[in-house]
Amino acid sequence: MKQWHLNSWRDMPVLQLPEYPDPRRLGEVEQELSSLPPLVFAGEVRELRRRLSDATRGKAFLLQGGDCAESFLEFTADNIRDTFKVLMQMAVVLTFGASSPVIKVGRLAGQFAKPRSSGMETIGGVKLPIYRGDIINGTEFTEESRTPNPERMLKAYHQASSTLNLLRAFAQGGLASLEQVHAWNLNFVANSPQAERYGLLADRIDEALDFMKACGISAEHSKVISETEFYTSHEALLLPYEQALTRKDSLTGEWYDCSGHMLWVGDRTRQINGAHIEFVRGIQNPIGLKAGPTLPPDELLRLIDIVNPENEPGRLNVIVRMGADKVEEGLPPLIRAVEREGRKVLWSCDPMHGNTFKASTGYKTREVSRILSEMKQFFAIHRAEGTYAGGVHFEMTGQNVTECIGGARAVTEASLGNRYHTHCDPRLNADQALDLAFLISETLKDCRKLRDS
Ligand code: PEP
Ligand code: CO
Repeated sequence: MKQWHLNSWRDMPVLQLPEYPDPRRLGEVEQELSSLPPLVFAGEVRELRRRLSDATRGKAFLLQGGDCAESFLEFTADNIRDTFKVLMQMAVVLTFGASSPVIKVGRLAGQFAKPRSSGMETIGGVKLPIYRGDIINGTEFTEESRTPNPERMLKAYHQASSTLNLLRAFAQGGLASLEQVHAWNLNFVANSPQAERYGLLADRIDEALDFMKACGISAEHSKVISETEFYTSHEALLLPYEQALTRKDSLTGEWYDCSGHMLWVGDRTRQINGAHIEFVRGIQNPIGLKAGPTLPPDELLRLIDIVNPENEPGRLNVIVRMGADKVEEGLPPLIRAVEREGRKVLWSCDPMHGNTFKASTGYKTREVSRILSEMKQFFAIHRAEGTYAGGVHFEMTGQNVTECIGGARAVTEASLGNRYHTHCDPRLNADQALDLAFLISETLKDCRKLRDS
């Protein structure tokens, strides 16, 4: 294999990159970005790799979730706080079920660029470039808004930086303290069955904390109670941006993409000889690899060997996103190939991206029942193969949206339009996300019982 360097991806075929009409300005922006401070630090990234290595060995569980696409318009402290709260609630529920640490990774602080199935969009006879995420162009259907503009990368960088600042404050400044477990409930969820169930669990945690306090262990003295570790992730799609934020770690001399802790390669850009795989093989961050129904086992093995040649646990997370009707056929051959060759990967389940469809009302949506079905099958298949189902990957939000159909307080096809705010894919609302967390928690509990018996 040829030597990797920061620019080596530029010699490979690349999919899904926008065409910037002003390459000179693009170059200037890349230059500027590469002189700005890193958003995350190599030491933190290494810490996450250690956590994911635990998960690969069955000793922890990965919870990854957040927006499909962050947007400039919906960038508010409340939005970030509410997504953070729901993730914390889900994590607590899962910790109870798994009785093992839950690694929290947000699709946040950098999740801006979107792969699209076609490059152009035609409305009323007018043809313009497709919307590719706020870091590239705008949603508005005008030539000006749809023309890829490199300035947007600077804006995205600064938004990611403020988002991270807030997340760090939430994680370490009190909101993530287990003593706040009741306060993570969002108002609009308050009267739902999930909220009641969550309230009971939160009461049990309170009781345990009281007991520990009586024994001399409290939030005041223990960071384990008062703080949490929270990591960020996004799709490594817009390579000029990712390259500009990639820095050499002075301690180890290795390269880290400091735009986020974990990066993943999407199902559309994971070609063995493609630019995206070339780029990520040279950085030391944990890498996610989306595995859709068109990925044959031998190709997965080749990708694993390119991205993780040393076979280190914690480096690679295969994010399975087959769809509820394809996972039963598609997943077992992948697992068997990986097991046969002794490759160490963390398997997680993205039950969102294989289950998207267009409702009769025109909204792009997903059914909670199919999301659940894919997830249940994912866990059952791993149980049957004797492998560890180590994580989940969701598109969700703390906002009271109506983008996915179903859930305990059922969103119907007819009510999708009430609060459909997403810029891209439909997200679970807090109600639906919490509902799923309880269901996964039960599955994890069963797995644990089986393991221990
Ligand atoms: C995503 O995670 O937003 C995405 C586009 O996923 P995939 O590459 O699996 O389709
Ligand atoms: Co998506």
